[in-house]
Amino acid sequence: MDWGRIAQERLAEIATCSLPGAGVTRFPFTPEHRDALNLIRVWMDRAGLVTSLDAAGTLVGHAPGEGPSVLLGSHQDSVRDAGRYDGIMGIALACLALEKLRVEGIALGYPVEVLAFADEEGVRFPTALLGPRALAGTIDSNVFDMVDSDGVRLRDALDAFGGKSDDVTALGRNPADVRCYLEVHIEQGPVLETRDSPVGVVTGICGIERNTVTFRGETGHAGTVPMQGRSDALVAAADFIRAAHDAARKVQDLRATVVTCRISPGVANGIPDLTELTLEIRAPNDSIREDFAAKMKAEAKICADRRGTSFAIERTYLQPAVPCAQNLCDVLSKSIAATGHAGVVTLPSGATHDASAMADLCDIGMLFVRCRHGLSHRPEEFASAENMGVAIDVLANTLMVLGQ
Ligand code: HGY
Ligand code: MN
Ligand code: MN
Repeated sequence: MDWGRIAQERLAEIATCSLPGAGVTRFPFTPEHRDALNLIRVWMDRAGLVTSLDAAGTLVGHAPGEGPSVLLGSHQDSVRDAGRYDGIMGIALACLALEKLRVEGIALGYPVEVLAFADEEGVRFPTALLGPRALAGTIDSNVFDMVDSDGVRLRDALDAFGGKSDDVTALGRNPADVRCYLEVHIEQGPVLETRDSPVGVVTGICGIERNTVTFRGETGHAGTVPMQGRSDALVAAADFIRAAHDAARKVQDLRATVVTCRISPGVANGIPDLTELTLEIRAPNDSIREDFAAKMKAEAKICADRRGTSFAIERTYLQPAVPCAQNLCDVLSKSIAATGHAGVVTLPSGATHDASAMADLCDIGMLFVRCRHGLSHRPEEFASAENMGVAIDVLANTLMVLGQ
């Protein structure tokens, strides 16, 4: 069977479960999400899994066995105008690896689950990793009252979708019942292409935080208020954006990005009196990230004082850096070698994943699949059927080794 070709076909089909646009746009607890789960249920059924939707909106495919479970999966949701692979590939390839073992008559003997998490990107609501945090028992109940851009509460969207917000905190798994979590994901960067390797073993996942940075000044008529003495919140924000960018360029492996900017009153002849930014900071090392965040707080004050405005900075999201378990890295590396690909590439992840949150529950392992030109979070994202076929073989081999 050409499992890589089947993967490509399935990912092309599920890419149609999307809002209209140049790429894939599939947010959690939407009609597009529902359509996607209908296809994933078929994938899970073909893999011999029994499916159920949990209270957090995660579609769980389960096969019984003896002892602690091996959990697989990734996220079904996407950013706006995304490609066809980020997240959903991990679900598809996990199902195909299990289907391959089933077709070959190989029984694993231990329980295995494939998890199709609802919301990893945190695009619709200002939070993320709802499903894995529920299983890890690290969910913050405040997230259920967060609202999307239409004012819909996460609680209401989840309940209307078939989840049960009141029961999410009870989803926490007993660590003794879980052996590990393995996630296959498109690399979203250029390393595997540069090293000419189809797959790679992830050594660890960066830490991430998002902060709302607000500058408040004084509005007025853009034509009558003299330049001297203005308290322009947008100019203060512009100073800050440049300062954050230039400071981040000086810190190795750190990434700082202002990813949203809201201006008020936002009219053609009014001086902005409010600017609200989202500053995202990532680093493989948490203390480097924390130091930079402290520096940005001081910088925000300097920018605010310079322009006669006030400022506030509030951290709205935090996911610490996590290492992948060495024993899982070793098994994945041996499986790659067993599929005939010597010279195994190991690499850190600058993107965060569901595995970031699962690391609070159990050991995690990640397998990256080569990404054409490193492009992701855009319609041009691409992984070849051949490389996905290698990943399916590696995952199937890894699952067999875990059962020995
Ligand atoms: O932001 C990330 O790294 C991931 O795509 N959610
Ligand atoms: Mn993503
Ligand atoms: Mn992802």
